[in-house]
Parts: sequence; structure tokens; C-alpha cells
Amino acid sequence: IYLGDEDLTQETRDLLSSLPSEKGWLVSQIYQFEGSWHTQGLVQGILNCQKNFKANDSDIILATTPKSGTTWLKALLFALIHRDKFPVSSKHPLLATNPHPLVPYLEADYRVSPDVDFSELPSPRLMQTHLQHHSLPVSIKNSSCKIVYCCRNPKDMFVSLWHFGKKLAPQEIADYPIEKSYWYESRKNPNKVLFVTYEELKKQTEVEVKRIANFIGCGFTAEKEVSEIVKLCSFESLSKLEVNRQGKLPNGIESNSYFRKGEIGGWRDTLSESLAEVIDRTTEEKFRGSGLKF
Ligand code: A3P
Repeated sequence: IYLGDEDLTQETRDLLSSLPSEKGWLVSQIYQFEGSWHTQGLVQGILNCQKNFKANDSDIILATTPKSGTTWLKALLFALIHRDKFPVSSKHPLLATNPHPLVPYLEADYRVSPDVDFSELPSPRLMQTHLQHHSLPVSIKNSSCKIVYCCRNPKDMFVSLWHFGKKLAPQEIADYPIEKSYWYESRKNPNKVLFVTYEELKKQTEVEVKRIANFIGCGFTAEKEVSEIVKLCSFESLSKLEVNRQGKLPNGIESNSYFRKGEIGGWRDTLSESLAEVIDRTTEEKFRGSGLKF
């Protein structure tokens, strides 16, 4: 996504030269840093973010793997957190703005400079990351801020990423690492990390949205409010909005790229049996013994 037009510092260049690297998907080279693959700009963003980001106790961090439901959770969390300021109405910001610019993406915002100012964000501040748990800035781990983590069936994520990638780089596809440290953290420390799956969120959206709202400290009293937010943030509503069908986001990506089908099990239309088996085998190997099933 971030195609490497940033100025790199000498520190980033030195680090990059020591990292395992491979020919990239959208960029010429990608680098393995702390177990995940990134563009050079994102490596710089991660370094800056790890060194400089100061979490507040009241912050809410959305952590996801790309294509696991980030857009949906950004919309839901934004609507939940700001529901007193922005009750669901025809003036709601989600009706006029794509969910991505409404919620800053930490390591991407730090790509260009170590000085990023999040102080203007209304409290509680809501921010998003694709970092694995062990790569989070220490202040996120050491403060009392809350983390909502969402994951999704790896085959659906793979297919979603493949379609997304085709829009950006038509001839190429790429593999993705699988993340399970948030799962362990959520079991060890359930008040700090809430584990959500795209599938459960899809199957019983209201139940899950209430669970998320309670976790971030803004539980509901009125059922009507829950269903209004669920409807506002649904794939059907968001994907039909003019703002999400036309034009580009500040990161240069077409707004409609984040809304494809929004289904569970859609991988069956795209993956061959043999590729599905390869992904199943990898998933089984990586998740063995964790108690987490897809
Ligand atoms: P598909 O490609 O399977 O349709 P991310 O937001 O993490 O990039 O993930 C994108 C995936 O979430 C895409 O999946 C997209 O269609 C789906 N999605 C986007 N908004 C959604 C919503 N409001 N409800 C359900 N799914 C949504």
C-alpha cells in the first residue's frame, strides 16, 4: 500500500540492510522485521512509532491483520465511542467520510516523520494498527489503554487480500503471516485485549457489538441504539454510500477497494481445492496447540 516514497533516515537504511528481504508484491523489495513483512516506509514508520508513540490510559487501539475487518471495526468503534457527540442521524460523519480517514493508522502515520501529533483527537482517542502484539510500542502495553483485536478465517483473508492486491497490482499475489499472539494475550489479560472474529461479528452482530461496547467502557442501555449503529456500519449501508463508491482516500487507494463482498466462506469461489489445502495445512501447523480454531 505504501509504495516507498518516504525519505529514509540513515538508521532505517542501516536496519534495512540487516533484515531478510524478498522481492515485493507492490514494491520492488519487502523486509522481514520482527516476524512480519513490510515495505521500507513501514519499517521506518514502525521504528518511529515504537520510539515515540505515547499511549494514554483512555486510548482504544484497534489491532487487525489486513483484510480481516479493519474497515468494519473502524466504523463500529468510531460510531460507538462518539455516539453521544454523533447520534445516528443523517449528519453522521460515517455517511460522508470513509471509515479509514476517521481513524488514524499508527505506523503508517509515522512513516514520514517521528513527530506525529495525535493530541487533537477527541478523547478517548481511537487508533488502528496492523502490528503484531510483540511489536506494539511499549506504552500501549504498559498503559491501561484497551485493545480490540479482530481476525478472520485465513482463507477468506487470503482471497480478500488477493482481490485487493489485484486492484493495486494486477499481475501479482502474495502470502501473509498468521498472527496468534493477541489470542494468547486476550486469554491472559481479558480486560486489556478483546478478541473478536469477523465470523462471529457477522453471525451475531448485535451481541458482538454489545460485547465490544462493554469492553471499551461505553455499554448500551437502549437496544434501539445498538441496532442503529449496527445498521449504519453494515456492509450494505457503507458500501452503497457515495463517499465509499467514488474517489480516492488520502493514501491514494480507491475508496471502494475496502468494500468487496463482506461474506463468510467466499473463498470457495476463488481458491482451488489444492491451494485451500495448503492454507489449511499452514493454518493447522501455526495454530496447533493454541485452542484457536477456524
Ligand atoms: P471481502 O474482500 O471478503 O469482501 P479490511 O477492512 O481489513 O481491509 O478488510 C476488508 C474486508 O472486509 C473485505 O472483505 C470487505 O468487503 C469487508 N468489509 C468492509 N466493510 C465491511 C462491513 N461494513 N461489514 C462487513 N464486511 C466488511
